[in-house]
Amino acid sequence: MYRRLSEAKQGYPNIITPLPGPKAKLYLEKDSKFVSPSSTKEYPLVVKTASGNMLEDVDGNKFLDFTAGVAVCSTGHCHPDVIEAIKHQTELLIHMSGADFYNPLQMELAEKLSKISPGNATKRTFFGNSGAEAVEAAFKLARYHTKRPMVIAFYNAFHGRTMGALSLTGSKLTQRKGFFPLIPGVVHVPYAYCYRCHYGLTKEKCGMWCTEWIKEELFQTVVPPEEVAAIFVEPVQGEGGYIVPPKEFHEQLYKLTREFGILYVADEVQAGMGRTGKMFACEHFGIVPDIITLAKGIASGMPISATVASQKIMDWGPGTHASTFGGNPVSIAAALKTIELLENGLIANAARIGAYIMKQIKAMEKAHRLIGDVRGLGLMIGIELVTDKKTKERAVMERNELLHKTFKKGLLLLGCSRNTVRLCPSLLTTTEEADTALTIFEECLEELEKG
Ligand SMILES: Cc1ncc(COP(=O)(O)O)c(C=O)c1O
Repeated sequence: MYRRLSEAKQGYPNIITPLPGPKAKLYLEKDSKFVSPSSTKEYPLVVKTASGNMLEDVDGNKFLDFTAGVAVCSTGHCHPDVIEAIKHQTELLIHMSGADFYNPLQMELAEKLSKISPGNATKRTFFGNSGAEAVEAAFKLARYHTKRPMVIAFYNAFHGRTMGALSLTGSKLTQRKGFFPLIPGVVHVPYAYCYRCHYGLTKEKCGMWCTEWIKEELFQTVVPPEEVAAIFVEPVQGEGGYIVPPKEFHEQLYKLTREFGILYVADEVQAGMGRTGKMFACEHFGIVPDIITLAKGIASGMPISATVASQKIMDWGPGTHASTFGGNPVSIAAALKTIELLENGLIANAARIGAYIMKQIKAMEKAHRLIGDVRGLGLMIGIELVTDKKTKERAVMERNELLHKTFKKGLLLLGCSRNTVRLCPSLLTTTEEADTALTIFEECLEELEKG
């Protein structure tokens, strides 16, 4: 059994009431009356305050947060430097719509993104407020620039829930069911491997990449390649199961896009901004995308998204696309400070702590019958649970139960795909916090395995 190597000193987790506690129960009642029931809540956590990786609920229970608000709070919750930047900006200017007026902070952040994103070309940025908006903008831009109608996306991909983004999403049926007709012209294909190999996530069965299948089957039968505007791809699939494809897949995909004049759009909403141990996940694969979408980790929790493309591609004119709130000055102030913190140590920390956690979980893998696979890059780590290591049958109930168990012990985790646990803590996670999380995770796993 995994034992924490160094004693956790941080004083959390510390659970002092049954969960949910009495105050949380009152809020949950209100929620069930007044708030839309459409979102997924893994467990009944009602948050009051947070700092770093510590999160306190309305009853005073303290949790260790290994979700970072779904991979958003890259610098931890309420980083003092980010708070300072936000406070300073709120005293100067809170809003003056970028849709109609110039805002110097937008130019500063766009220039920074142009410099740090892969490729030598000067890039321009469209600012929105959420991941889905970034994808929506990329979708429209791809059609506008190429004058082609079709788009290819992948099974298990998650790109958001607005109509355009949802049309690209191929992750769970509940996300799409009841919302048809979606945007026409979107075709889904298997991620990395061809149809025959897709389910085993192995290329060994027939040795075919999905790109070969796209070229030899799809482009010969139902989709004319000269009508495809873009291929949307997550460099590392997020909601779909934290799946890290082989480098060769991205290389093949990039080659395919060059051959047919198709735009390669990297959706880095979840994997970008340092989470994988590099500023952009596509850097692990040596790819220079035509368009990059960013959102989650960019401003430590403030709402902002960015769709980044070369000047040549971002050729739409005035009035074609805009957002009243997109590129809000306060969010940009938070983003500029976040990027500074990422560049000055946090990305390196994500790579170091990510490797540390990965090593410890890999060591657990053999000892636990429920662990079917461990994968990830940096602090984007997925632990897939199976009922049988050989057949890889998905342990869906067990995964859900595990998330509740760790919650009760004060460790916040999330799921992805139907049977994977995801670890996506903030980029300032310490070894002590990692040890605490791993200890609780393994205790809960053992309880589950004992039945
Ligand atoms: C890769 C990816 N793209 C897009 C989105 C949508 O982001 P949002 O929920 O901010 O609209 C997500 C959200 O999880 C994501 O992981």
